[in-house]
Amino acid sequence: MITLKSRAEVTKIRNACRIVSQTLDLMERELRAGISTKELDGLAVEFIKKQGGRPAFFNYRGYPGNICVSINEEVVHGIPGGRLLLTGDIVGVDVGVELEGYYGDAARTFSVGKAGAEAQKLMDVTREALYCGIGAARKGNRLSDISHSIQAHVEAAGFSVVRELVGHGIGTSLHEEPQVPNYGKPGNGPRLEPGMVLCLEPMVNSGTYNVETLPDQWTIVTQDRRLSAHFEHAIAVTDGDAEILSVSE
Ligand code: MF3
Ligand code: CO
Repeated sequence: MITLKSRAEVTKIRNACRIVSQTLDLMERELRAGISTKELDGLAVEFIKKQGGRPAFFNYRGYPGNICVSINEEVVHGIPGGRLLLTGDIVGVDVGVELEGYYGDAARTFSVGKAGAEAQKLMDVTREALYCGIGAARKGNRLSDISHSIQAHVEAAGFSVVRELVGHGIGTSLHEEPQVPNYGKPGNGPRLEPGMVLCLEPMVNSGTYNVETLPDQWTIVTQDRRLSAHFEHAIAVTDGDAEILSVSE
């Protein structure tokens, strides 16, 4: 069942999402060659707690980190640890926060220093694809119109969309219905209605869309070990343009 949120509930989700977005701003400022992913995790927890939030990923289905940090061929769910960032790495940072019973979730991919041309294009296309999806998230459209618009933008650029992981509804749980695939034919699935709150999160690969899980049981990597990028926003469907909730102001 897809639950529609009242304006008051959307405000609560936005409050959680604001902390998420501000944490991502902090990660962007702190990212540099030589910092470990564990240090980024520590800075994130400290900030989230100072804002009165709780890192939503910690212990979620046993997840051992507070945030996810996914480097280069890692698609999502990279566990923070001793690995040091290197110049030219692309680093997906995914943050979830619970605040007063409501959840926020968003992700961005950054480069450490200047990215290579292919990596920069991959990040740009993934972010653009997210905004294509947000543009399709309009009252009266169907859910798969979002999926299709993301896929079309990615494939027009010569990249591929990961199939095995999807976006999701969000609210009083981190993951609610519906699932939001990043690929599919248009015109299918439920009609979008004001009050639906969704996380759109394209994961885009340079090569094959196939992925696999590392022996740590969490880290998802591209099967061909080429690069992957990930951007995520939480949005609310309205009577007009979708409202992006995961913003810093
Ligand atoms: N943004 C991801 C998602 O919505 C993050 C989940 S990480 C986990 O699925 F650790 F919580 F699983
Ligand atoms: Co998510």
